[in-house]
Amino acid sequence: MLTQAQTDIIKATAPVVAEHAVEITSTFYPILFEKFPEVRAVFNQSHQRGGTQPQALANAIIAYASNIDRLDALKPALRCIVEKHVSLNITPDQYKAVGSSLMEAIGRVLGDAVTPDVADAWGAAYWQLADILIAAEDSEYSRKAALPGGWRGARRMRLVEKTPESAVITSFRFAPADGGPVMDFLPGQYLGVRLSIDGETVHRNYSLSDSPDGRTYRISVKREPGGVASNFLHNRLAVGGEIDVYPPAGEFVLQPGEADVLLVTAGVGQTPALPLARQALADGRRVRYLHAALNGTVHAFRGSVEGLAQAGDFRQVICYSEPQPGDRPDATGFVTPALLAGLLEPGRRTDAYVVGPKPFMACVLGALKELGVPQDRVFYEFFGPGEALVQETPPMRA
Ligand SMILES: Cc1cc2nc3c(=O)[nH]c(=O)nc-3n(C[C@H](O)[C@H](O)[C@H](O)COP(=O)(O)OP(=O)(O)OC[C@H]3O[C@@H](n4cnc5c(N)ncnc54)[C@H](O)[C@@H]3O)c2cc1C
Ligand code: HEM
Repeated sequence: MLTQAQTDIIKATAPVVAEHAVEITSTFYPILFEKFPEVRAVFNQSHQRGGTQPQALANAIIAYASNIDRLDALKPALRCIVEKHVSLNITPDQYKAVGSSLMEAIGRVLGDAVTPDVADAWGAAYWQLADILIAAEDSEYSRKAALPGGWRGARRMRLVEKTPESAVITSFRFAPADGGPVMDFLPGQYLGVRLSIDGETVHRNYSLSDSPDGRTYRISVKREPGGVASNFLHNRLAVGGEIDVYPPAGEFVLQPGEADVLLVTAGVGQTPALPLARQALADGRRVRYLHAALNGTVHAFRGSVEGLAQAGDFRQVICYSEPQPGDRPDATGFVTPALLAGLLEPGRRTDAYVVGPKPFMACVLGALKELGVPQDRVFYEFFGPGEALVQETPPMRA
């Protein structure tokens, strides 16, 4: 618990910290990686280069400082952080490394403004938040370990099936090397994987792309040009090869209720949509599915999605932004509000789930708002650190 004096200092200094938050977090990561090189491997270095992770941490610090005396307001945001941390097996000792590096970064950026009282207040505030996260993460680790087929930490999994889904996406099905069962997951959740590539340890998240079966997990990965993990999986991991896997996590899951379900995806963003659609249909819900791809060669899971029509009230619309001769999509060009409107039943409540590149998601969110879908019924997943989705005006494309 912070003292009243510490709380007052946080409130008084929050604006200056907010003003310099990205500078602080961009200073923080190099300090962390230099002083604690063992921690570097859990971070996706592309998210550092693109600035998305420093921005995500800066946003979290600003939100925390502005809500220092009403932490309840932060609960949803903290849930997302906990899920991401748990998926990467973040441990309490790593909070010490992060805390000392963050305090050093604050000192470097704000200089003389960081008096001993200010340093003391921010140190206490950090540990107040860290303790909340550590406790929440510990309870998630224990909960998952206690589930049938559950476990804690890394579990060795063997690749049992490798299936190309398109020119750029391949599915990888893993089963535990110990031969045991795996815990069920909620459709929409993702795995954390730990790969050892040329002596380097690399962590990545991948959405589960098939429904739970109790024995295996399937992920589907797009080969990124120059991408470390995706090229390793595509080119070097053969059936029989093993990787380390952390238990499933994530908040992008089907919301309870009877509302219609609209899934809007682009490119590899389709991965969590498949199990989500299957679950919604099994629950008797009306499902509409809009998928945007560049063209037929990179369009994955065609047969599986078509098969969903046998499972209930399902209709899909396929949109190619650059169709090739022989492609027969339902629509070409960009995903427009009119195309989305055709999938919404007037007078019925719809929950919308959106996954794709950031500009695509921003445009879809804007269009759904225009079409009257309440913003709190729109759910989305970032294939990277969470970012602000400013509505963008350019057309939507894969
Ligand atoms: C919750 C979640 C779910 C996800 N689900 C999926 C999924 O289902 N399927 C999927 O395919 N992905 C998914 N992702 C994304 C996935 O985690 C990886 O980010 C993705 O596979 C790319 O990783 P990589 O190691 O191949 O590429 P990275 O090595 O991280 O590189 C990414 C890009 O950055 C570029 N780059 C690398 N180094 C440099 C450099 N020095 N300078 C400039 N550019 C550089 C690369 O060329 C590449 O284009 C998900 C992510 C999250 C957070
Ligand atoms: C109070 C302390 C901390 C806060 C406020 C915090 C906040 C965050 C936030 C906001 C994200 C982005 C979540 C998302 O949008 O997906 C994140 C991700 C992450 N955090 Fe933390 N974090 C803290 C401590 C730690 C610690 C101790 C570690 C361990 C080294 C850690 C490792 C990570 C990693 C690896 C990611 C994913 C990064 C990526 O995808 O590149 N965090 N954290």
